Amino acid sequence: MFKVVVCDPISEKGIEILKKEKDIVVDIKSGVDKKELPLHLKDADAIITRSSTTVDKEFLSHCEKLKVIGRAGVGVDNIDLDEASKRGIVVLNMPTGNTLAATEHTMTHMLNCLRFMPNANYELKHKHIWNRKKWMGIELYGKTVGIIGMGRIGSRVAVRVMSFGANVLVYDPYIPKERATKIGAKMVETLDELIRSSDIITIHTPKTEETYNMIDREEIEKMKDGVILINCARGGLYNEKALYDGLKSGKIRALGIDVFDKEPQTHHPLFELDNVFVTPHLGANTYESQVRVAEGIAKSVIDALKGRGYENAVNIKMEEEEISEVGKQFLGLAERMGSFLSQYVKSFIKKITVYPHGEIESCMNSLGLFTIVGVLKNMVDEHVNYVNAPYIANERGIEIEQKIYDKRTEFKNYLLIKAEYDDGKTLEIGGTVFEPNKARIVYMDGFDMEIELTGNIIVFKNHDKPGVIGKVGLILGKHNINIADFRLGRKKDLGEALSFIKVDQEVNDSILKEILNIDGAISIAKVKL
Ligand code: NAD
Ligand code: MLT
Repeated sequence: MFKVVVCDPISEKGIEILKKEKDIVVDIKSGVDKKELPLHLKDADAIITRSSTTVDKEFLSHCEKLKVIGRAGVGVDNIDLDEASKRGIVVLNMPTGNTLAATEHTMTHMLNCLRFMPNANYELKHKHIWNRKKWMGIELYGKTVGIIGMGRIGSRVAVRVMSFGANVLVYDPYIPKERATKIGAKMVETLDELIRSSDIITIHTPKTEETYNMIDREEIEKMKDGVILINCARGGLYNEKALYDGLKSGKIRALGIDVFDKEPQTHHPLFELDNVFVTPHLGANTYESQVRVAEGIAKSVIDALKGRGYENAVNIKMEEEEISEVGKQFLGLAERMGSFLSQYVKSFIKKITVYPHGEIESCMNSLGLFTIVGVLKNMVDEHVNYVNAPYIANERGIEIEQKIYDKRTEFKNYLLIKAEYDDGKTLEIGGTVFEPNKARIVYMDGFDMEIELTGNIIVFKNHDKPGVIGKVGLILGKHNINIADFRLGRKKDLGEALSFIKVDQEVNDSILKEILNIDGAISIAKVKL
């Protein structure tokens, strides 16, 4: 049974999906005081949050079984990703579910700032004042809108403001220029350029060390007089004290703001100002987006708990790569090859180099990750998975490198992995996947052969002379060990042979010693995969 604790309110549609699973117990704790939440976390296998729950080191210290954190939304700035990763917890988000809601919310704030609609509405309804002169607006048509961060939301805001006839300047150093130019926006090289030239500025970046307080006093001074500012991304991207002063002085005509440095926020100096339009982090609050996000995160959490997949995992490095069907078949092989390398030589592996060839070159980071998981599985006590493996490897001083294989090979796709051990030894093994889905190692240490890396395998090296292998068979037979498969590779020039002997059960060390005592034996090792 898996226990999923829902820490923040999500749509009932998502809860229903979770409840339908026979092996999942759903514990709704969105109503409890955040201070009380840790009491319910001890046996949680997964939690689901929005932005109101801070999942930091202290929070995670209460979780003894936690495997999955589902963030029903985009921003994961409320989650200590490093700490979660160290603990092997997969963090999943729902990046696209609320994009449209946040885009339309941004447009709403922008239009309010242009026309002061909420003020006119309030005055007419609550003070019964019919004042057409006071609430004179300005048009979006013909204005220059500066968009900081041209991701999912920023790019959609760009299209919408352009449909009003505005010009768009974009500052986003992390995307190709064409993403802006192809929709008719202009990409600027510096934030300074955007700030100085825009009539309206809206920010759509994540909250990072670089973007926190990105717009401060100095930046506001450089802006056009009467600039309009919008923040529907994250609190603190605009310095709130600088905003207040800019609004008070008239430098800033109006501010539309959905997110605050500290949330929840009910008493903020900005609330005193008539030219400030505030909402309590409502960017994602549309019925449609909440259903999308809740259904999506519920399905992803179920898949992750059951090991079926990690869609939108933000702390699994392989998510950065597009992995083809062929690539996927090599991932399992890479993990088994890593495990083989750490079992075959009884010495600490200090460096692993992964050399892919062919189509699989495009997923070399993932191949590295799976290899290191295989290496560590036999090495460390703690539970190793695709999230914490890079951290554990780093802590243990294991270096991992990926390079394209640059030698000739007969295989369309080929993976060579080299291990460098602490005692100075190195070992190279090569593998491929034959159609359909037949993963084999085909090379080891100068020997060509072909074997599936599964089960109990004895790896035996000997001088290539008659009678040796027969004696191995006799010893195994004597101990009632059945041979399931036998593969031999030979180095004729050196007069050496390497055998992979698959056996139906694990052999003990005394049997291995007996085999090693055969005249002509060079080395023996056993691996279990
Ligand atoms: P995204 O990841 O698709 O886009 C972010 C963009 O910011 C990327 O293109 C990135 O290159 C750019 N960027 C990063 N650092 C930058 C920097 N220093 N300068 C300029 N650009 C930079 O994210 P998204 O889905 O578009 O979300 C944008 C923001 O909106 C996030 O902070 C997200 O948490 C927030 N959000 C808020 C609400 C809400 O309820 N108010 C809802 C959804 C999203
Ligand atoms: C998000 O990051 O998705 C937003 O903050 C919306 C939310 O948390 O509901």
